[in-house]
Amino acid sequence: MTAEILKPNKETLKRAAEIIKRGGLVAFPTETVYGLGADAFNPKAVAKIFDVKNRSRFDPLIVHIADFKDVERLWHRVDEKAKLLMEKFWPCSLTLVLPKSDIVPDIVTAGLETVAIRMPSHPVALEFIKMTGVPIAAPSANPFGYISPTEAIHVAEKIGDKIDLIIDGGKCSVGVESTVLEISEEPTVLRLGGMTIEELEKVIGKLKISTLSKKPRSPGQFSRHYSPWTPLKIIKGKIDLPKGIKAGLLTFKNSKYDIPFEKIEVLSYKGDLIEAASNFFSYLHKLDSAGLDIIYAEPVPEIGLGRAIMDRLRKAEGIKMGKFATAINCIDGRVQIPVIECIKNNYGVNYVDMITAPGVNKILAEGEHIIMELIKRCIGISVNFHGSKLITIVGHYDCAGNPTDKETQLKHILTAIKMVSSWGFNAKVIGLWVNEDWEVCEVE
Ligand code: TXA
Ligand code: MG
Repeated sequence: MTAEILKPNKETLKRAAEIIKRGGLVAFPTETVYGLGADAFNPKAVAKIFDVKNRSRFDPLIVHIADFKDVERLWHRVDEKAKLLMEKFWPCSLTLVLPKSDIVPDIVTAGLETVAIRMPSHPVALEFIKMTGVPIAAPSANPFGYISPTEAIHVAEKIGDKIDLIIDGGKCSVGVESTVLEISEEPTVLRLGGMTIEELEKVIGKLKISTLSKKPRSPGQFSRHYSPWTPLKIIKGKIDLPKGIKAGLLTFKNSKYDIPFEKIEVLSYKGDLIEAASNFFSYLHKLDSAGLDIIYAEPVPEIGLGRAIMDRLRKAEGIKMGKFATAINCIDGRVQIPVIECIKNNYGVNYVDMITAPGVNKILAEGEHIIMELIKRCIGISVNFHGSKLITIVGHYDCAGNPTDKETQLKHILTAIKMVSSWGFNAKVIGLWVNEDWEVCEVE
């Protein structure tokens, strides 16, 4: 059954708050995108978010607050730069990352020592958070890796049957997710978003931008994200459209092309980047459900919100062009960086999607039928979305958290590889985790 979609009146917010207090999940509007909220202090409720989204437990959530005082109990200390930014901009689409206090459950931060906090400006979001009386942990209310929802209907269509209530606050005004800024010696932008770099730099000076990092600290930095199921290509010069291919167009300002597009969406006839951002995800949703073979997207100027739009377009494009691999990581976050590097270097792959599923490792030791279930689930997520050709299985750790010997690791992994191959994928072992270190090896 799909969750009820209710307009945000007093009665709805009261019900929503009760659901949160009982440990349920409520999708709510913010000015950026719709969030899928749970009580940040209730680890069980937060765990449900990960299940509904099919999201890796190693991907931390943003904690949403409505009262400035909450930062003092959620952050270990409130940094001066953060204070300046909060006073100047909050509530707004700026998320700040600082060391966490002990009361923030590990599941919220995926075990990181920091916690991301944001005070949204949407009046419904603020009222909803206030009524619950707790900070709300919330990712965007979409399946992991898919286009973010900017209207209640987007939430209903993709995850409506798995949650308790959807508050319909209309279309999100900003339309792209919040900017994620880590406050440290050298403040670093981990995700480009609704708050522009230009505005931020006016207040705290030059920022480091690290949104496509080789060492991802924030999954928004991964090359795969925010993407439609339909392949997307950014227009560079002339479009060569093969015969019989159904193409759609996402233009910035209604440019004309000599191509019979099946469906065209114009982000902003006036060429206004703020309007373009607010339409961006909803138009991608429309194009993605139009049964097209490919979506062509026109680049937008890379200033202000244009940077966030181009960032999402590049990520959507990257995966589709064939040079994409999926790694199933059975260990944990530590191997992410060496593994991604290794796959890129050895297989000529540009984009690596890392599924960290430490549950798989426990189960590898337990028996083939259970492995099958888990790996299928992991692969299902990624391969269905992205047509990945190469699947790699990464390492093995035993249940107690001690590395097993190399020989046992290999035995279990080869079982997994055989299985994945029997489903028609090109699966390889590319390395093992041996004595706390990553050892590259290829096993046929
Ligand atoms: O606009 C938004 O931020 C929306 C609305 C609902 O508030 N939320 C959102 O959440 O986009 P989500 O989970 O889809 O993206 C949160 C991003 C992820 O890239 C995550 O890795 C990063 O923030 N993040 C969260 N906590 C972090 C932390 N402690 N350190 C680094 N990155 C963090
Ligand atoms: Mg998201």
